[in-house]
Amino acid sequence: MRPNWQRAFGSRFVSLCQVTRVLSCIQPTGEMQLGNYFGALRNWVIGQYECDGFYGIVDLHALTVTDQPGVVGQATLELAAMFFAVGLDPEVATVFVQSHVPEHTQLSWIAECNVSYGELSRMTQFKDKSAKREGEFISAGLFSYPALMAADILLYDADEVPVGDDQRQHIEITRDIAIRFNSRFGDTFVVPRAVMPRAGARVMDLQDPTSKMSKSAATDAGLINMLDDPASILKKFKRAVTDSDNEVRYDREHKPGVSNLLDIHAAATGRTQQEVAGDYTQYGALKVATGEAVIELLRPVQARYAELIDDRAQLAALLRTGAEKARGVASATLARVYTNLGLLPA
Ligand code: TYM
Repeated sequence: MRPNWQRAFGSRFVSLCQVTRVLSCIQPTGEMQLGNYFGALRNWVIGQYECDGFYGIVDLHALTVTDQPGVVGQATLELAAMFFAVGLDPEVATVFVQSHVPEHTQLSWIAECNVSYGELSRMTQFKDKSAKREGEFISAGLFSYPALMAADILLYDADEVPVGDDQRQHIEITRDIAIRFNSRFGDTFVVPRAVMPRAGARVMDLQDPTSKMSKSAATDAGLINMLDDPASILKKFKRAVTDSDNEVRYDREHKPGVSNLLDIHAAATGRTQQEVAGDYTQYGALKVATGEAVIELLRPVQARYAELIDDRAQLAALLRTGAEKARGVASATLARVYTNLGLLPA
């Protein structure tokens, strides 16, 4: 039986999902935060019964910014527990780990050979991440990252990629790579499109509502982690930065703090931002109500996570099954790519 909220939200997504092959992924770099949930993960759960969904934990992507052994492996296990805790159903959804499916790195090289240095140089994520690491080691992987991401998507013939707003440019470059390859080597790839939620596509930091909420934020005062306890969630919401004119109104440009609270409240309750705004005249009450809505949403997820994370053997078994299903699709696509490239068969 699907939970109530899932039934309530589900209908909006049905039209996006006829026949549809869906793929999306998250990097195992630190704890999952509310932006990952509203921007991506929750929509995977909503869509899983109508779509043919593939959901990856992209551990190789995390290596672009990792230099410690074991950290990514542990984060991968925790993320797998979170995928199932939020409601991905292993009976219908294919949940897999990227490094368990070697076709990702094989196709990544081919994607690299079909994207230009200039295109990769224009990626804002590379510019931001490399600027933050000034004076530190900036791996070539950080630069060629979009080619691996394109491979993740194109391997599965994905029609739709449910992501948050920050991934828009990555999906665009994936489309460019697919279109270029198809025109050079014949029809090979499905050209995917990004799908974003109506509320929560860009959850902002509660302390700096002009920056997106991110696991790599300098402090966690404006960041809601999925496993935060109720008292700290409420505290973070009560301290959320707003503005001084005291009018509860949805206006992302001029009132980013209040609008972020309205977005989060709307995403948590399934209402529109304007409906929520109509219920409040004071910022304080809006902050508390938004915190409480998030606490209620996360409560069952946290309880389920606590059960799942203790059973490593079961998680490993589910991931093995997912990898087998994923490889079935990925190896067929890679074979088609090699054939269309005209490589000499082994
Ligand atoms: P990642 O791991 O940074 O984030 C995972 C998903 O969470 C969404 N997200 C947000 N949505 C709304 N508000 C936020 N503050 C917020 N922060 C994160 C992201 O948009 C994303 O959907 N490059 C990807 C991982 C990736 C991928 C893929 C995604 C690799 N291969 C193939 C889709 C398909 C990334 O770093 O996401």
